[in-house]
Amino acid sequence: MAVIKLENVSKNYQLENQPVPVLDNVTMDIHQGEIMALVGRSGSGKTTLLHIIGTLERPTTGKVYLDGVNISDLNDNQISKLRNQKVGFVFQTNNLLPEFTALENVMMPGMIAGAPMAQLKKRAKALLGAVELGHRETHRPTEMSGGEQQRVAIARALLMGPSILLADEPTGNLDHKTSSIVKDLLLQLCAAHKITMLLVTHDLELAQSLPKQVMIKDGQLENR
Ligand SMILES: Nc1ncnc2c1ncn2[C@@H]1O[C@H](COP(=O)(O)OP(=O)(O)OP(=O)(O)O)[C@@H](O)[C@H]1O
Ligand SMILES: [Mg+2]
Repeated sequence: MAVIKLENVSKNYQLENQPVPVLDNVTMDIHQGEIMALVGRSGSGKTTLLHIIGTLERPTTGKVYLDGVNISDLNDNQISKLRNQKVGFVFQTNNLLPEFTALENVMMPGMIAGAPMAQLKKRAKALLGAVELGHRETHRPTEMSGGEQQRVAIARALLMGPSILLADEPTGNLDHKTSSIVKDLLLQLCAAHKITMLLVTHDLELAQSLPKQVMIKDGQLENR
């Protein structure tokens, strides 16, 4: 069974009564443990597609299934819960909360879910260690480099043990060497926990180094 299934998904934004077509009848299946790069030009709809898969946005038409569950059958509360439990996001702009430390940012999805604090703290520390930021636990986002913030965002995305990881340019601000370290780390964590990952990147070398690539063009997907 597909972990992520899209059936004829279209998305149009509406701007001053002017429709902005972005996704045009997209159908795709991604299976458990699959690692896929999503490439395409700026403005082609990569972030939109990720947000629709991650239930942050609803399609204009079409259906989204996560682990076989049709999202449109769920109410907003059920969708939030499912997102919190199943989906890890690394956002294009990393979205860390400015007033919280690195450790607190990583713990945040668990606090929202009401998980026990001691357990959360232990797991968050281990994840910060895994992204080599054990020495930055008490730093706030403005007290970290762009690449460090991105690694905190990756640790946060993994906190709840998601089955799906949606990463939007997770290495966009990193130098070549750090980018390669972060990529290896993501691949290693996905393999260890059977996580299904869709990773958006403009870096064609990075995309080619992942097992599968899909390109979005004129609102449609092309396998590469
Ligand atoms: N809320 C919105 N209202 C209207 N148009 C929008 C909205 N959000 C996105 N768009 C438009 O939809 C298109 C796709 O945006 P999206 O962010 O998915 O692109 P992208 O492929 O992620 O680009 P990039 O590589 O630059 O991040 C863009 O042309 C954008 O201007
Ligand atoms: Mg984008």
